[in-house]
Amino acid sequence: MSVVTDGRGLVEIHNVHKSFHGVEVLKGIDLTVHPGEVVALLGPSGSGKSTLLRTINHLESVDAGSVTVDGEFIGYELRHGKLHELHEREILQRRTRVGIVFQNFHLFPHLTALENVTEAPVALKRLSKDNARELALGLLDRVGLSDKADAYPRQLSGGQQQRVAIARALALKPQVLLFDEPTSALDPELVGEVLDVIRDLAKLGTTLVIVTHEIGFAREVADRVVFLDQGRVIEQGTPQEVLERPRHARTREFLAKVLG
Ligand SMILES: Nc1ncnc2c1ncn2[C@@H]1O[C@H](COP(=O)(O)OP(=O)(O)OP(=O)(O)O)[C@@H](O)[C@H]1O
Ligand SMILES: [Mg+2]
Repeated sequence: MSVVTDGRGLVEIHNVHKSFHGVEVLKGIDLTVHPGEVVALLGPSGSGKSTLLRTINHLESVDAGSVTVDGEFIGYELRHGKLHELHEREILQRRTRVGIVFQNFHLFPHLTALENVTEAPVALKRLSKDNARELALGLLDRVGLSDKADAYPRQLSGGQQQRVAIARALALKPQVLLFDEPTSALDPELVGEVLDVIRDLAKLGTTLVIVTHEIGFAREVADRVVFLDQGRVIEQGTPQEVLERPRHARTREFLAKVLG
């Protein structure tokens, strides 16, 4: 199967601010993710990792600054030099450029693995039922689940459910794929099978932004590690730079904690 994001997936985050009830949780984030790049986003609980990830596909609007994917806004359009939020329908279409995989899988419980993967491409009228089925079978095969196409989520292990969720995200051929702690709800013995799938996507040149506490995995797979603390990017660099020789005390404290 061809490279998923195919040279696309430039994410440009510029001076993003976001508050909830008057509390600023993103305090001017600048971050560019290049096509094919794998960025691991690390940081303590509450530092704003999920919020930042959610601004990339406009699950969260921003108060100031901008986020574009391949030069285009997901939730806004520029009219007369001003940004206007788009209608929900338009946002839904554009949001499909960015796939997201959550900690708790979020599969549709009443649909089989296959139906979970075909649902969006058919609902969004991207593919006929037959074509969506063909695509979905290929994707399930790719995540090692060709024998589970007809199983319901409740009949699958956590690791299998998460792999279905990844196949589902891929079905819309996103330009970039986001992972929010994809393995932290899994029993330890199931973590590896999900990381294997993500590792394959990285090798294929998919643009990935991964929030994770799996430091060993970040070291191995990420091109760049970005450390977030209290709504700011505190430090970033290669895994060697940030994980082996952190410059900031907060990064060192965080690593000491997660590495136990
Ligand atoms: N919808 C919301 N309404 C109000 N506050 C929110 C909302 N979403 C996030 N927050 C707050 O914003 C801050 C950042 O949250 P966020 O979920 O981005 O952190 P995180 O780095 O992902 O943390 P964790 O590692 O625990 O997942 C937290 O203080 C959180 O309570
Ligand atoms: Mg989070």
